Amino acid sequence: MASATDVLLYEVGPRDGLQNEPERVPTPEKLSLIGRLATAGLRRIEVTSFVSPRWIPQLADAEAVAKEAPRRAGVRYSALVPNLQGYERFHATGLPVAALFVSASETHNRKNVNCSVAEAIERFRPVAERAKQDGVGLRAYVSTVCGCPYEGDVPVAQVADVVRRLLALGADEISLGDTIGVGHPRQVRALVAALAQEAPLEQLALHMHDTYGRAVANVEAGYEAGVRTFDASLGGLGGCPYAPGASGNVATEDLVDLFERQGLATGVDLAALVDTTAWLEDEVLRRALPGRVYRAKRGERRRAQERTTTVGEGA
Ligand code: HMG
Ligand code: MG
Repeated sequence: MASATDVLLYEVGPRDGLQNEPERVPTPEKLSLIGRLATAGLRRIEVTSFVSPRWIPQLADAEAVAKEAPRRAGVRYSALVPNLQGYERFHATGLPVAALFVSASETHNRKNVNCSVAEAIERFRPVAERAKQDGVGLRAYVSTVCGCPYEGDVPVAQVADVVRRLLALGADEISLGDTIGVGHPRQVRALVAALAQEAPLEQLALHMHDTYGRAVANVEAGYEAGVRTFDASLGGLGGCPYAPGASGNVATEDLVDLFERQGLATGVDLAALVDTTAWLEDEVLRRALPGRVYRAKRGERRRAQERTTTVGEGA
């Protein structure tokens, strides 16, 4: 939950973003990325996943990333954990927050973690017990809350049921994932209102993908409904390899700009974040990233640079 700031941005680029890249990013570049994000003011960063390297080869270096990510005061790192085997790997690295994940819809869950929703939650039981004993924080994602790539509409009651079961296991925070980016503001308002019956709003976060271009509108709707924690990826990176057609997360730059322009503090330095995304785009991924505010800021910089050059030439 936000303290010194009005909203808390939860950066998931190193995990949600890089899990979906066709090329595996080398470990030193991942560590630089995490350090730069922390320097830009992000205080919650999901750094990797302790899932099967056969399912997500892009994050096969999870141990090295989690152990070597630069520790900074006030910055908390998390990583995805699907089962007890993943938890053992996670815990050996000393990270403070484990992030469980399960879908609200059966078919996506099966495609993503190869078991039913009920089985996934049973797998979490010993993980949650261990996390409590070890003093590890527990975030829990519920995916496909606005729609499933295989089943279509997902009833709010089905989402609420999964949320209730995760809270009963002791989840500290629930992140509601519009995995395929089909949600709309009215749906988000209704979802948050329904889930506010299950958990205090401070325990809810929104995780919006931008496939249909409504992620920023959905975040704004979530803010108006009382949510204060929002997941995002620098430059709009991201996607779930087991959700066909899904595109990236809402871009972190878009949320920094959205909130700061409305007088709401995020604690994130937009210029430093744009520098980081530009570095990632130019030096690491070598492909254009879609974030709108990021693209606009790069355009402004280029035009300012051109004006300086023209003035210099004219002098
Ligand atoms: P499985 O194949 O059913 O696992 O996978 P299994 O228990 O039958 O074991 C098979 C093999 O995997 C064994 O190895 C295990 O040791 C190994 P073998 O004996 O064959 O050599 N194994 C593991 N290895 C390393 N770490 C582990 C682990 N567990 C088993 N933790 C499993 C089940 C859950 C592991 C697999 O399905 C998996 O890793 N899935 C991950 C999928 C994933 O990461 N998806 C993307 C993240 S979710 C997402 O993006 C959505 C989110 O962003 C929110 C939103 O947008 O809505 C969070
Ligand atoms: Mg996601």
